[in-house]
Amino acid sequence: MSARILDGKALGQRVLATLAPRVARLSTEGILTCLSIVRVGDDPASKIYVRGKMRAGEQIGVSGSVIELPASTTSKEVCEQLAQLNADPAVHGILVQLPLPEGFDPHAIAAQIDPGKDVDGFHAVNLGRLVQGAALFRPCTPAGVLRLLDDASVELRGKHCVVVGRSETVGKPMALMLIERDATVTVCHSKTRGLPAYTRDADVLVVAAGRPGLIDGEMVKAGAVVIDVGVNRTVDGRLVGDVDALSVAARAGWLSPVPGGVGPMTVAMLMENTVHAAELRCLRSGQEQSSNAGSA
Ligand code: GUN
Repeated sequence: MSARILDGKALGQRVLATLAPRVARLSTEGILTCLSIVRVGDDPASKIYVRGKMRAGEQIGVSGSVIELPASTTSKEVCEQLAQLNADPAVHGILVQLPLPEGFDPHAIAAQIDPGKDVDGFHAVNLGRLVQGAALFRPCTPAGVLRLLDDASVELRGKHCVVVGRSETVGKPMALMLIERDATVTVCHSKTRGLPAYTRDADVLVVAAGRPGLIDGEMVKAGAVVIDVGVNRTVDGRLVGDVDALSVAARAGWLSPVPGGVGPMTVAMLMENTVHAAELRCLRSGQEQSSNAGSA
């Protein structure tokens, strides 16, 4: 068997194409959808990711600003910057690119973002709402994984979904979203004993561990759906996932490639959240106008 490819590059473009008319409609209401990204320090990969996000925004008419701060910036200064963006009615979405330099507390930083502009979905309010099954903004990478699965009509109800990795940005929210879809979910991580026994039982395997080659064909059930969230740079500069693509493709039913799988979906979901944030703002300002007119 050779796995069918879950093409995130093509699907990401299709998602962006659905967003462009929504952005255009907002602009007829006088709203120019705007995403502000704060990037601190010199992480070269972060620079590339931020550029990709800006490019996707440009493609659909979302205006953007990148606030680049040196690694020497204090947490207080970042918070002041976020307070300005929160107060700016022209800004609909705010994102602080991760990882932050050493010494920053990402929870404390996320807590400073207005939950209504938190298009990453990392504010405790948005993560709490996700637990309640009522998320305003869903974290972009797991949301992108679900969109890939839905597009391939992968049934999740009652299926055993195994998530490898327990990060707050991917593994934990992924598990919640899969539970919401009636899957039976197992979360494995670096302290899990006997990982292959779990992965071999997975109907759907989502790997987000940040360890190249962690999963090989022997660890996958025949016909399983395998989603590779890993992004690792090899010594010779190649981008690889956490999955040994060759051996897994020979056994799985579906496989998401790296690059061109989950990465473009993360960006597309970020844009969807940003457009959603602008639409919510448009709705709210319309409601305020009509209630002001009512009380005049
Ligand atoms: N760095 C890697 N992935 C992400 C993400 O989804 N959001 C942010 N803000 N930073 C990231």
